[in-house]
Amino acid sequence: MTTVPDVTLNNGVRIPQLGLGVWQVDAGDVVDVVRTAIETGYRSIDTAAAYDNEEGVGEAIRASGVNRDELFVTSKLWNGDHGYDSALRAFDATMERLKLERLDLYLIHWPLPMHDRYVSTWKALERLYVEGRVRAIGVSNFQESHLQRLMDEGGIVPTVNQVELHPRLTQAALRGFHAEHKIATEAWSPLGQGKLLNEPTLTKLADATGRRRRR
Ligand SMILES: NC(=O)c1ccc[n+]([C@@H]2O[C@H](COP(=O)([O-])OP(=O)(O)OC[C@H]3O[C@@H](n4cnc5c(N)ncnc54)[C@H](OP(=O)(O)O)[C@@H]3O)[C@@H](O)[C@H]2O)c1
Repeated sequence: MTTVPDVTLNNGVRIPQLGLGVWQVDAGDVVDVVRTAIETGYRSIDTAAAYDNEEGVGEAIRASGVNRDELFVTSKLWNGDHGYDSALRAFDATMERLKLERLDLYLIHWPLPMHDRYVSTWKALERLYVEGRVRAIGVSNFQESHLQRLMDEGGIVPTVNQVELHPRLTQAALRGFHAEHKIATEAWSPLGQGKLLNEPTLTKLADATGRRRRR
């Protein structure tokens, strides 16, 4: 059983530093996948409306036997649901699929600046947060200009920006901006979707921690 350290977000909520993402996990497999992950020691599960497997994630969480307070569940609002009212409806639909009392983290999946509705979408997430329906709100794939605009026009600084991050895409400037504004950087595809397993930075880390790939 592995234990994972926490990261404290800017609103005091703690998120496990390592989580399991279920992008591309078939709905038919996701219950077993999440159950196995929880048995192994994972406490953070990252899904999204677009992954089409929220029902199974919720089922595995409810059946896990682990106290709900020890688990951290993230979901994300998909692109077609931008806008204040649409975002509120999308959140309700996500919660109906998950069948959980509350969500730990809700993210805007992409900023879609061409549609220019991410600020009104963020206002809906702020409302969900203020109403206590979600413990933390954040964004994904936002660039510095999008974050700056949210902070200029919104009231709440995002807790998290989940972005592609690995040794071939280190996002140094964006991470600097995050640090300045107390936004946690969360990595997606930290292994470059499995293509970076022989990357020297990763093999050195794997050797140093005794976790060299076996297959
Ligand atoms: N916010 C966003 O826009 C966004 C976008 C992408 C992902 N995400 C999130 O980030 C999560 C992680 O992304 P990711 O799946 O791309 O992460 P990743 O960790 O970079 O890649 C995972 C893949 O690496 C391969 N892999 C891992 N360990 C391996 C090993 N020991 N030997 C051989 N292959 C190995 C597997 O590929 P095979 O399955 O081919 O074996 C696995 O599916 C997603 O599930 C999702 O939750 C978010």
